[in-house]
Amino acid sequence: MENTEKKKVILSGIQPSGAFTLGNYVGAIKNWAKLQDDYSCLYMIADMHAITVRQDPAKLRRNTLEAYAAIVACGVDPENSVAFIQSHVPTHGMLNWLLACNTQFGELSRMTQFKDKSAKHADDVNAGLFTYPVLMAADILAYNADLVPVGVDQKQHLELTRDIAQRFNQRYGELFTLPDGYIPPQGAKIMSLSDPTKKMSKSDENQNSCVYILDDKDTIIRKFKRAVTDSDSCVKYAEGKDGINNLITIYSVVTGKSVEDVEREFDGKGYGDFKLAVGEAVADHLAPVREKFNDLMKNKDYLVSCYKRGDETAFKISSRIVSKAYHKAGFVDR
Ligand code: TRP
Repeated sequence: MENTEKKKVILSGIQPSGAFTLGNYVGAIKNWAKLQDDYSCLYMIADMHAITVRQDPAKLRRNTLEAYAAIVACGVDPENSVAFIQSHVPTHGMLNWLLACNTQFGELSRMTQFKDKSAKHADDVNAGLFTYPVLMAADILAYNADLVPVGVDQKQHLELTRDIAQRFNQRYGELFTLPDGYIPPQGAKIMSLSDPTKKMSKSDENQNSCVYILDDKDTIIRKFKRAVTDSDSCVKYAEGKDGINNLITIYSVVTGKSVEDVEREFDGKGYGDFKLAVGEAVADHLAPVREKFNDLMKNKDYLVSCYKRGDETAFKISSRIVSKAYHKAGFVDR
């Protein structure tokens, strides 16, 4: 059926924090690509959020370009979606200030991510780290996004975004859409391969715990062979079998098979066979991503033309909304 209604707007962002993991891929970027047909999508590399913790400038620049190439390699289509770089679109900073003046110190003090990060970076509790959720609200509200795909760690920030939007609308008149979270239907959380009770994370000291989307085949297979499992030997999803559950989830996501099908496929086979199969399936699934990424990084002009187009479209859309917000707040029209 032809859908003549206006498509809902989806916006999401990811920080350019170095190589993306299988967790980033399954939990976020893979779904970004899927949503493109049914929604009007905006995807950005959140380089402004990245500097809330200290960054080496040359590295940040490289990571931002690589992150952009990575989302395109994972299927974000810069001709179909608006794929842009946050710091290239000045409306985010403009709206940020207006929203900051409508956000309470107390609200920001309650953010659990701020509490965690300020404890972790005790020598650099900068104002940006504190007002981080306000910039995120600006990212979202500047486009009147309906839906925001986020992981659980960002849910509180999204709630705050709704509170800020609602407050603004009450004070100055209706403008902002109250965004909802979009929780991906399947396999949102990928756990560490060496300690499957913890989330897969690139900051893990054990490099075998974490698979990167750009790892080569041998590396991927080696990491899966070493994955920690239980002393049972039956490939079945069950409570308490965190390691096997994680591997089943991963296998199911990359092959598109249901959990039941996976269990049937490995009925009577041991963990060794299963681990090898998961490693191979992941490596095969990621091979085209790696290839596309390498092509893009060799073709900088094309990459630049993609983000320039995204930046311009993002600026056009957000300027209309941010100008209205400025007007409502009492700034003289330019
Ligand atoms: N804060 C998000 C994260 O670290 C990234 C982000 C920035 C974002 N702005 C956003 C996500 C707007 C969704 C919408 O994961």
